[in-house]
Amino acid sequence: MRDTTNTEVSKARRVANSNGRVALVTGAAMGIGAAIAKRLAADGFSVVLGDLNLDAAESLAQELCAQGHTAIAVTLDVGSDASIHAAFEQIVAHFARCDVLVNNAGIAKTYPFESYPLAHWRAVMDVNVTGPMLLAQQAVQHMKKQSWGRVINIASVAGIRASAGRTAYGTSKSAVIGLTRQMAIELAAQGVTANAIAPGPIETPMVATLHSDTTRDNFLKQVPMKRYGAPEEIAGVVSFLASDDASYVTGQTLAVDGGFIAAGVLEI
Ligand code: NAI
Repeated sequence: MRDTTNTEVSKARRVANSNGRVALVTGAAMGIGAAIAKRLAADGFSVVLGDLNLDAAESLAQELCAQGHTAIAVTLDVGSDASIHAAFEQIVAHFARCDVLVNNAGIAKTYPFESYPLAHWRAVMDVNVTGPMLLAQQAVQHMKKQSWGRVINIASVAGIRASAGRTAYGTSKSAVIGLTRQMAIELAAQGVTANAIAPGPIETPMVATLHSDTTRDNFLKQVPMKRYGAPEEIAGVVSFLASDDASYVTGQTLAVDGGFIAAGVLEI
């Protein structure tokens, strides 16, 4: 059998397994979250696009529906307990289930450690750490009814290696990696896996504002593949972790980073 046929067979199997399953992707209006929503829709999931930016989320949901997929957009502020509860009420009213949660929404700003603003620290912790925990608490109530669920947290290489200016962001992403392990061991009995992805530098609207030319040069020197990743390269790994093929994978953090975490001295 040729490779292309194998790909078709595994795609058909993935779509068959995903039929009827509902995936909530946070921060799905743009960047990595939008690529994840598109990929999970193509895999056969019904997709809920949760975002602060409802207009952009709605326009992507309409695009997916026009392609024959099932998708809705909901207003969601991951930093607000009330907003998380309201979003789940909408999801339950529409689909009555939630099988996959992709905690993708995240925020970042860089400041020197000594003058790091407390308000920004708190905002980052609320959105990047507390929100994913609260969302998972809600989602698990639905996953355990089927004894099947997937929580996929988008962490960062900044949670594994420190980078300048990322006092809150780096700490929040380390916490997400720890949270992933905590959820994995406590939810295993419910048939729910929890894994994290640690992306390296990925071309998105966030990076367009966050990465200075100096940061960009620094990454290109330190990433063995000598390039930024594409959002679709993260979405492909989410697709695997959300599938039945990943049934025995839990508590893991997978760096998807062109080799950045593996790298030491790169020149002789
Ligand atoms: P982005 O800024 O391009 O897009 C983020 C999306 O999340 C936007 O649609 C925005 O409206 C939404 N959002 C922001 N705050 C929200 C909130 N409180 N509630 C709901 N939605 C909210 O970001 P990007 O680059 O796509 O990043 C996605 C995730 O990947 C983040 O968690 C980020 O930390 C992580 N990441 C990104 C990397 C990169 O190089 N782009 C590298 C490593 C991790």
